[in-house]
Amino acid sequence: MINHEFPGPPAASFNPAATAAALDEMRFWVRIMGEHAKFIRSGIDPSQETTFRNADAFAVEFDRLQRAVACTPPGDFSAVSALLSEVIPRTAALRNFKAQLFKAISQCAAVAELPAALLDHIRREADFFLNNLSRAMGQPAVPREILGIPDGGTPATVLPRLLIPFAGQNILLIARDENLFHLRIQEEHGEVLLLVAYRPKLQDMLYRETAKFENQIETLHQQAMSVPLRSKALLKFNAKVRDVMMCWHDFLMELFQDVINCKVPSGQINTPALILDHMAREVEYYISVIDIVNRTIA
Ligand SMILES: [Fe+2]
Ligand SMILES: [Fe+2]
Repeated sequence: MINHEFPGPPAASFNPAATAAALDEMRFWVRIMGEHAKFIRSGIDPSQETTFRNADAFAVEFDRLQRAVACTPPGDFSAVSALLSEVIPRTAALRNFKAQLFKAISQCAAVAELPAALLDHIRREADFFLNNLSRAMGQPAVPREILGIPDGGTPATVLPRLLIPFAGQNILLIARDENLFHLRIQEEHGEVLLLVAYRPKLQDMLYRETAKFENQIETLHQQAMSVPLRSKALLKFNAKVRDVMMCWHDFLMELFQDVINCKVPSGQINTPALILDHMAREVEYYISVIDIVNRTIA
């Protein structure tokens, strides 16, 4: 299991831009973390009572944190600090729960419908969130390998999205690392749907369309490492990625609507409908990062 130090408490010098950036990350990722707990809760074998109850406790806790995040104003330093002192340890605990479950499912020490790889995927998303909170508080970045970015060992250059405009000369490295992180995440979304979502024969059309996107994203992910660290090259690559991400997002949202309205062949798919909306929101986050990176580079 990969372990690392989790962010400490915010420093007294936590500035207004960093406070707003930390709150923005929490507004997006706390909901995502709660949904991860719910996916685990509904995806493990009913015989795994303790795991079910732990996942349920996380789901209840993150629902409460989501309500607290929603009513915290961005300019309120002490309210954001108080929130961070709750969100960080709970996210770190959920992150460790995911890592342990990944290991248990991989070694057949736990029984689950969830593919083990999905546990590693949502563990990386928790580490991305924790890294961004750490960066907002002026603390060190996590090693690249923890976020699944190649060339492990060196610190990852990803930031809370609202702090990207202040990146200075690091912007080109940030552009590359954000792409490497998010493209892997999006490629895995495609893989998970292909693996578990569709009903053979009845939903072959959906399978083929998803496979088309998964292929495109896999190619972009492979190309992301070799894009030259120059403004023009990164802007050109990002334009290509953005086009694919917009179509991928629209596909996921349309499918989500079709599933909740029982308009897909046979009515439903084999995964919770919420996973489609969840994935689409993660695409929206990535598109917003691309837009901020592009404006900062240009
Ligand atoms: Fe997620
Ligand atoms: Fe994801």
